[in-house]
Amino acid sequence: MIKKILIAVAVVFVIAQFFGREKNEAPTRELEVFITETTPSKEVSNILSAKCYDCHSNKTEYPWYANVAPVSYWINHHVEEGKEHLNFSDWANYNTKRKKHKLDELIEEVEEGKMPLDSYENLHGDITELEKEVLIAWAKKAMNSY
Ligand code: HEC
Repeated sequence: MIKKILIAVAVVFVIAQFFGREKNEAPTRELEVFITETTPSKEVSNILSAKCYDCHSNKTEYPWYANVAPVSYWINHHVEEGKEHLNFSDWANYNTKRKKHKLDELIEEVEEGKMPLDSYENLHGDITELEKEVLIAWAKKAMNSY
């Protein structure tokens, strides 16, 4: 009985690997417009790269375990949902009001510790207080430049 269940679980696991493979992998992160307009310093760029672009741009740097279902389903869902709310690669298509609003949301989410998502911080390391301050200062300045 146990053996049959284990075989069934193994079969489901193997079949699951064939689904949910659509990846967020543009050749580049397509951030030219966003960077030209919001002028992040090197430090800010490094924070965004390490903590935000995986879910908020057209290119995710996938860790090896992102290829294994069901983890892949879960990660792809976060990326899809994150991009729906905010995609820095799509900055050129946001109007000024939306850009300001997104930067305002960014300040709020980072201040309240909601971004990056906890599950992401557990795997990639926590955002530090200093990193938060640097991000918020840059976002305020960028917001006021519109
Ligand atoms: C693991 C994926 C992931 C990472 C990494 C991540 N986010 Fe998000 N982000 C999401 C998801 C999913 C949502 C939508 C659901 C929610 O608000 O919780 C979201 C929503 C947001 C929103 C709200 C946008 C709106 O107007 O609704 C902002 C702003 C944001 N993220 C900024 C950031 C910043 C800044 C970072 C880096 C410090 C970051 N995120 C890192 C997944 C992520």
